[in-house]
Amino acid sequence: MKSHVIIILCLGFVFLTLVHSAPRKEWTKLILTHHWPQTFCNMENCTTNFTYWTLHGLWPNTGAECNTSWHFNASLIEDLLPEMKTFWADLLRPKSTTFWKHEWMKHGTCAAQEEAMDSQHKYFSKALELYHKLDLDGVLKKSNIVPSENYYKLTDVEESIINSYGVPPKIQCVSHKKASEFQVLGQIEICFDKQFQLVDCEKSTKELQSRDGEIRPFIFNNHPVYAVCDVSVPVYYPPLGGSLQTPRFL
Ligand SMILES: *[C@@H]1O[C@H](CO)[C@@H](O)[C@H](O)[C@H]1NC(C)=O
Ligand SMILES: *[C@@H]1O[C@H](CO)[C@@H](O)[C@H](O)[C@H]1NC(C)=O
Ligand SMILES: *[C@@H]1O[C@H](CO)[C@@H](O)[C@H](O)[C@H]1NC(C)=O
Ligand SMILES: *[C@@H]1O[C@H](CO)[C@@H](O)[C@H](O)[C@H]1NC(C)=O
Repeated sequence: MKSHVIIILCLGFVFLTLVHSAPRKEWTKLILTHHWPQTFCNMENCTTNFTYWTLHGLWPNTGAECNTSWHFNASLIEDLLPEMKTFWADLLRPKSTTFWKHEWMKHGTCAAQEEAMDSQHKYFSKALELYHKLDLDGVLKKSNIVPSENYYKLTDVEESIINSYGVPPKIQCVSHKKASEFQVLGQIEICFDKQFQLVDCEKSTKELQSRDGEIRPFIFNNHPVYAVCDVSVPVYYPPLGGSLQTPRFL
């Protein structure tokens, strides 16, 4: 009898030790998300004059709000603010810093597990650095994928990106609820590994899905916004004030 108790106690101890020492699941990829301001503002009823892809965020593929006591402090990135306003703009509230605060609290505090991003300044700088390095806008233009009243094939957009980066992106669109004769280009995600080398985004897409939507696009007013584009539906890449922008999506 006594030996049973001892064995159970021992097993319990071993179990607790294993659970306790199990390494925290760390992220393996970073997702650099760009959004097309015209599409975003069509959806969110804002107005914008941006005519290039702006940053949405730099997101580790797993984890969110990894350190809620690490508060956002805009004065730590004061030197970056002009660049942030230009390339990582808050399209809804251009004068506020709440968008960056959200990105830092939700994603930055997780990215900060890596030394290369273990401060607010390093995290925001790294995102801007990767954004400039990719030059998504230039890549698309080089393949003549420019905002237009004519539709594109999704594969043309994909190929342009694969030809430049050597890895497939994840491309998200917004569809009209009723008509589906076209879908509107919304977000383009490009992925990196921990060494900031380009990697296939599709793999991380699957990881994302299997994690029960722990990481989602920024969600406003509780409505989900983007979905992976449908390869069989023409893609509309709306120009500034393009005629097909009406009717609004929602
Ligand atoms: C969209 O914005 C316009 C102008 O600010 C406003 O009149 C309209 O009510 C808004 N529509 C929605 C659905 O929020
Ligand atoms: C958009 O308009 C604002 C104010 O009118 C201006 O300061 C800014 O430079 C414009 N941005 C672009 C990308 O044209
Ligand atoms: C969370 O952030 C605070 C404030 O920067 C820091 O002191 C603390 O060490 C962090 N905790 C973890 C687990 O990284
Ligand atoms: C924000 O950072 C600045 C510069 O390091 C510091 O002086 C200030 O106290 C910080 N503010 C808060 C609320 O932590």
